[in-house]
Amino acid sequence: MHDRNKRPYRVLVILGVLLVLLLSVVRCAGPPAGPPANPALGQVGAVPASYAALCSSCHGYAGEGSNYASPFDHARLQAIGTDEISRLIREGVPGTTMIAWNRTLSAAQIEELAVFIAEMQPTTSESEAE
Ligand code: HEC
Repeated sequence: MHDRNKRPYRVLVILGVLLVLLLSVVRCAGPPAGPPANPALGQVGAVPASYAALCSSCHGYAGEGSNYASPFDHARLQAIGTDEISRLIREGVPGTTMIAWNRTLSAAQIEELAVFIAEMQPTTSESEAE
């Protein structure tokens, strides 16, 4: 009588052990964790958070432009320098959707964005060639 009552309990213990073993095997067999092999993501990592949040929707992560803004003219931007780029960001471009960002961003953030834009390269391969 006693043994009979204990049997279902023993079966449950065995099933439980099997389940734990099965789960650990499934976990080991899962796909390796790590960054996906997308080269574009490496570039995004170097983008200032404020650019990703506020500017990339119009200008693209690499300044390639969009329906809302033309591609950055990198040679011209490098020629005018970070002070002038800072001014453009601070004051905006009248007559376009480029607003003055001085109410949203601090001077330090604008400076960071200007340096980022001045150092932008049209393609990853070009920036890697440095
Ligand atoms: C709503 C879209 C929009 C957003 C958001 C935006 N811009 Fe612009 N930006 C423009 C447009 C439009 C121009 C004018 C040039 C053009 O037509 O592409 C411009 C011009 C510029 C220029 C001058 C480019 C040149 O060659 O003279 C800079 C620098 C610039 N933006 C930086 C930024 C930064 C930094 C941010 C984020 C803080 C930002 N923009 C956000 C639309 C946008």
